[in-house]
Amino acid sequence: MCGIVGAISQRNVVPVLIEGLKRLEYRGYDSAGLAVIDNHHLSRVRSTGRVKQLEEEVLQHQVKGSIGIAHTRWATHGIPSERNAHPHVSQDGLAVVHNGIIENYEELRHQLQSSGYQFTSETDTEVIAHLIHSFYRQHHNLLLAVRESLARLEGAYAIAVMVEDKPGELIAARLGSPLLIGLADDGYFLASDASALISVTQTMLYLEEGDVVELTHNGYQISNTMGERVERPIHTSELSADNVELGPYQHYMQKEIAEQPRAITDTVEKILGLGFNPTLFGDSAQQIFSQVKGVIILACGTSYHAGLVARYWLEHITKLPCVVEVASEYRYRISVPQTDYLVVTISQSGETADTQAALKHAKSLGHRHTLTICNVPESALIRQSELAFLTRAGMEIGVASTKAFTTQLVALFSLAVVIAKCQDRLSSENEREYLDALRRLPNKIQHVLNLEPQLQLWADRFAQKDHVLFLGRGIHYPIALEGSLKLKEISYIHAEAYPAGELKHGPLALVDERMPVIAVAPNDNLLEKLKSNLQEVKARGGVLYVIADNDSHFKAEEGIHVIRMPDHEGILSPIMHVVPLQLLAYHVACQRGTDVDKPRNLAKSVTVE
Ligand code: M6R
Repeated sequence: MCGIVGAISQRNVVPVLIEGLKRLEYRGYDSAGLAVIDNHHLSRVRSTGRVKQLEEEVLQHQVKGSIGIAHTRWATHGIPSERNAHPHVSQDGLAVVHNGIIENYEELRHQLQSSGYQFTSETDTEVIAHLIHSFYRQHHNLLLAVRESLARLEGAYAIAVMVEDKPGELIAARLGSPLLIGLADDGYFLASDASALISVTQTMLYLEEGDVVELTHNGYQISNTMGERVERPIHTSELSADNVELGPYQHYMQKEIAEQPRAITDTVEKILGLGFNPTLFGDSAQQIFSQVKGVIILACGTSYHAGLVARYWLEHITKLPCVVEVASEYRYRISVPQTDYLVVTISQSGETADTQAALKHAKSLGHRHTLTICNVPESALIRQSELAFLTRAGMEIGVASTKAFTTQLVALFSLAVVIAKCQDRLSSENEREYLDALRRLPNKIQHVLNLEPQLQLWADRFAQKDHVLFLGRGIHYPIALEGSLKLKEISYIHAEAYPAGELKHGPLALVDERMPVIAVAPNDNLLEKLKSNLQEVKARGGVLYVIADNDSHFKAEEGIHVIRMPDHEGILSPIMHVVPLQLLAYHVACQRGTDVDKPRNLAKSVTVE
């Protein structure tokens, strides 16, 4: 989604802005732009292509300056086009970039139009530029003008503002959208995501809700909503600049699928070292876990599917109730708060707006204990939660989440075991067995990855299809959901997932010889039930593609294609079974020639509602 980079320095900031935008590309965008001030003159370049194209235009026009703001836009108000791309400029060379959504923009737009401002875009952001200018022209104090404007805005924002006649001053503010400051020897920098600044500095500080910051060549000053001067802690970012290389792979998604054995090894390292120790989740975890009466999981998309899998583990291992909610629904639902439940948010990015809002909502209902499982250190959700577990998947760039999902599952499984242990519900035999299962997992996943050539053959057939059904049962039903999400988001094939037992209650009507049906068929206690469901498909002429465990001896026959996984992996089987579905989706998308890493209309980090 939208990304912001800003800089004020003694040197030309254009290369920093461009590099920052490139590092934000993975989040998804449809246009990009930058503005810089040089010799009291503002230059702006915008483009609907890739950041590379913007870079070429910037070089061609020899744009330079020692202060600048830049942006990647993911359209919300107004189509993707150059005129809607940021920065937006008001009179007197006042330029603004903005992430988030201004809810009262129509009302403000009318007011500003009636006082003479002309709008050149359909965006909500242009309102901010003119509004700030309307105050700035009265007193020529940019910081004050920003503050006065913020008081009029309703909605969410992270903004950066500069004006031609004040080339030594960059103002930024945030409410509901992330923004951080980077400190370096040769300047001060701004970004919506730490990865944008990582090639410039690792020293960063995060602005908090309502903060406004003034950056100059000599330093920075932060003030809170009340206008009081405040300090925010300085962090050394744990991100590294070199982990975004594609290497020998064609796409980041392909690389990230292949990285899963390593990502899981890194994630379980601490667990294998410490055992199922509550300190894995934070200092106060022992005390909290020993008292919780249940778990409520809040997440979106793939992370929600991880939560659905976790429910089976949590209820089975801890014997505590667990509810899993789509964050965007929970935040608006009138629910009955269970304040003695642990609230668990799951998020790859840690910045998903709906998940953040759901967490806030849970707190407002009186939930005291919160935990986030997240892949990005220092992210908003980690900062907002009492306890945290950081998955060690490494940076995930492909929009379709893969290694983040499998490492989330490892974290959630460990959470179930640790809670059970804190509540004296774990035998030492089970503890040993679970630890062994985690230790074996990376190797086992490697065996599954070796099935890739067979999945590529399947992909050739699926690439011609318009619809696909996924079936699973029990703990593997969420894996069917995840397989279907993967396929639809990168191949644009319509896919749906059902618990196999639901087939005859409706979706069976869709089945004929043109409808391929993928069945996730581990060798577990539901296998025989699943087999009966598959017969229902076969009897209607449906073609079955079955992902079976080796030890179930599932036979291929006319109308039934089988890929054999390693022997059944017991309780961690869902982590194994999602991998062939990731590979299938990837190869189908490649066959169809879609933009695998940046599928249309989607963004990596969904920072708006
Ligand atoms: O960063 P998060 O895990 O909070 O993101 C949640 C969803 O937006 C995300 O999982 C999305 O569904 C992915 N594109 C799935 O591949």
